[in-house]
Amino acid sequence: MSETIETSSEIITLTIDGQEIQAAAGQTILQAAQKNGIYIPTLCALHATKENGLESDIAPGTCRICTVKVNGRTMAACTTPVAQGFVVENDTEELNDLRKTIVELLFVEGNHFCPSCEKSGSCDLQALAYRYQMLSPRFRYAFSSREVNAESPKLLFDRNRCILCRRCVLAIRTEDGKQLFGFTKRGDKSGIIMDEELVKNISEEQAQQAMHICPVGAIIRKEKGFDTPFGQRKYDQNPIGSETVCTTCNGEKS
Ligand code: SF4
Ligand code: SF4
Ligand code: FES
Repeated sequence: MSETIETSSEIITLTIDGQEIQAAAGQTILQAAQKNGIYIPTLCALHATKENGLESDIAPGTCRICTVKVNGRTMAACTTPVAQGFVVENDTEELNDLRKTIVELLFVEGNHFCPSCEKSGSCDLQALAYRYQMLSPRFRYAFSSREVNAESPKLLFDRNRCILCRRCVLAIRTEDGKQLFGFTKRGDKSGIIMDEELVKNISEEQAQQAMHICPVGAIIRKEKGFDTPFGQRKYDQNPIGSETVCTTCNGEKS
């Protein structure tokens, strides 16, 4: 599991979906794909931008939506470093069905009522459900009922929408490096916990950053609803996959 990714100047040549591309040694397959305008879906990995306040990409490696085949073996694109001559399969029927299965599992595992969710239109999970044309999930709903925490004056934390990606755990810290979010327990008992004192005193900027970093509507900024109206939100404008980082924009698109 990697948190940040170091790169070097050595050039690696590999193919993704038959397209030959070049990457720097130390880059992940995901980073190499993004730099070359090739879309690989993500939920837990996040490219660093000014908007999300990250100084380097993060890749918790928790969601597996980025699964590709590397020389015939399934691997997570966000945690696998490129190597000379890699043959990567990405946009195939088999892998896209696997990704759709992950999306369906996440929908039935939590409680997702998109029409009443503040993140609707900017939610990566919802956008992937549209991308993979999810209608009715193949799996039974778990009807989970988890705690919603509204103690913080600035944040609402709804665990029913949390997909346990761990982005908040890796990315949200106080200026002196203390984690605001942590991970607890294992298996179906696993969950995200907050340091309630630190979250109570969270700054405006950090509250905004936390909502932005969460790929779903689990972390919601209080008192700031509908800043962007429905119909004008990120994935209302462009479907997920059109935000791939390209070489000409130098990674500035989120
Ligand atoms: S978090 Fe996303 S998928 Fe879940 S209810 Fe909100 S918009 Fe829908
Ligand atoms: S709260 Fe959001 S960012 Fe944190 S683990 Fe859950 S889904 Fe991921
Ligand atoms: S995006 Fe690669 S494991 Fe989540």
